[in-house]
Amino acid sequence: MCGIVGYVGPREATTIVFEGLRRLEYRGYDSAGVATLRGGRILVRRAEGKLSNLEHLLADQPINGHIAIGHTRWATHGAPSQRNAHPHTDCTGEITLIQNGIVENFLSLRQALQAEGHVFSSETDTEVIVHLVEKYVAQGCSLAEAGRRAFAQIKGAHAIVLLSSREPDTLVAARLGNAGGVTVGLGEGEMFLASDIPAILEHTRRMIFLEDRQMAVITPTGPQFFSLDGQAVEKSVTEIPWDPISAAKGTYRHFMQKEIYEQARSITDTLRGRIDFETGVVTLDELNLPPKAVSQIKEMVTVACGTSAYSGLVGKFMIEALARVPVEVDYGSEFRYRDPIVDQHTLVLAITQSGETVDTLAAMEEARQKGARLVSIVNVIGSMAQRISDGVILMHTGPEIGVASTKAFSASLVDQLLLGAYLGQARGTLADQDSRSLAQALAELPELAGRVLQDGYNDYETLAHDFHDREHFLFLGRGINYPIALEGALKLKEISYIHAEGYPAGEMKHGPIALIDESMPVVTIAVQDNVYDKMISQIEQVKARGGIVIAVAHEGDQVVRDKADYVLTIPRSHPLITPILAVLPMQLLAYYLAVRRGCDIDQPRNLAKSVTVE
Ligand code: F6R
Repeated sequence: MCGIVGYVGPREATTIVFEGLRRLEYRGYDSAGVATLRGGRILVRRAEGKLSNLEHLLADQPINGHIAIGHTRWATHGAPSQRNAHPHTDCTGEITLIQNGIVENFLSLRQALQAEGHVFSSETDTEVIVHLVEKYVAQGCSLAEAGRRAFAQIKGAHAIVLLSSREPDTLVAARLGNAGGVTVGLGEGEMFLASDIPAILEHTRRMIFLEDRQMAVITPTGPQFFSLDGQAVEKSVTEIPWDPISAAKGTYRHFMQKEIYEQARSITDTLRGRIDFETGVVTLDELNLPPKAVSQIKEMVTVACGTSAYSGLVGKFMIEALARVPVEVDYGSEFRYRDPIVDQHTLVLAITQSGETVDTLAAMEEARQKGARLVSIVNVIGSMAQRISDGVILMHTGPEIGVASTKAFSASLVDQLLLGAYLGQARGTLADQDSRSLAQALAELPELAGRVLQDGYNDYETLAHDFHDREHFLFLGRGINYPIALEGALKLKEISYIHAEGYPAGEMKHGPIALIDESMPVVTIAVQDNVYDKMISQIEQVKARGGIVIAVAHEGDQVVRDKADYVLTIPRSHPLITPILAVLPMQLLAYYLAVRRGCDIDQPRNLAKSVTVE
């Protein structure tokens, strides 16, 4: 969950590393630190709290050299504090380290190292690694060899970077398991390291990704790669198509705001080249799922976490409708612990924006072991989820920086529609006419999304004014829009800290109806689909108990307008496309309420963008 950056080369290293950290602040923001080498000595600056505290410290006590590492922390062991912030340094002051992950056996290692005379200066699990490295360096090992021996002793998943004054031109990095990525960025006479691509995107687009149990030894002239058993490894370079501008906030106040408003564009990018809008024929080259493989699929299981899991729930409706394959959806964190029934006839679909969510990766591994075919919908190019899948559908939405996922949600819905249509066409369950009408609706989608996002289309300011002081919200939806109610509630609680529950509307009378009173807004998705009449009667039931209804309805729906207290409209579209439009007012409602409450939109408390710990 922590952010990692490294640099070695002729430029001012601390400045480059700090700028990289600024782009990774969404990873963790309870403390941060950098270390560099100057005059043969390691210099470290660490500060509790947000990155701006480290910035002030560096302004007061500048450090600079030509090699540096930096870290933003999301605390696991040890409270957020200056002494627990990374980098951590050994007893000699010659070796320093940053890490992402949890050392599961840190207690026994710490006791053994203390018994050998090592003195610890933090409460973190991380610090044991640097003392282990120190021990092997004292025995005459190079930094890389000492690291390799130390890494063999620690349990758990990790991304680690080492720097030593004994080898002033060398960074040693390692990836053990799924604690987030380690990306080496190739420059000319300079090299970069990062947990996430956006940190170094302005310097290079040529990147190499470490696999599990691989190490990199990096000097300004280039990296060398090894497996953790010491064998040299050949790695290929990936050209990242992302534009550095796409990772910048531009004129927007928040990344989340920017990402909500760019969805008309990102949906276009997701569709581009994948569907013939005349015939409706879908082409998904990277999916690597030829017709013969499609014919062997008996069922699908979607694994994902958080917003991506809700996307999977919407996708279930899409894929079952188009391809007539049963789809089960499970949280990554649950799937692996229930001995799931999957085999070679199961297509397992992982949905993950980051491609590094540890629970989703673990679920993928579980499915792989059971012989399932593995495909993924991923945004981050070169991420672990992409690399371990048999096939992939990239979201093509550009970097998503806001901690609350928005444009990746809509992109993954579009991808699942394309997947459903692709499978339906291969299985013969989707008539040509139906393919064509879906394609026509998809062709119109960017424009319709753009309309919902236009200034003044819906009045969120009034809603924010009227409801910013409420403590509870209920979100109701039915059928394909039920997961949109879940997503609306999740968005609201994570960025505004208002308690919100999403519920299948028909279940309201079985419990949540007891909560309804004049103080709790009930957001209902009441679009004109096959459950419209049922949703109207839910609205009646809420109103009969004095509740306040904020309805998401189709343009021109006077029935809803007459019954609801507030209406957020969306244009009419194909029923399978409606959720992609219905989620936009949910995102904007959460955003405006959170802004009005003065919340920290892009860095909501306790959250981090890539969840790389269990
Ligand atoms: C919520 C949110 C999270 C993520 C979840 C999975 O707004 O962003 O719930 O959706 O942590 O992340 P990915 O998709 O990267 O696997």
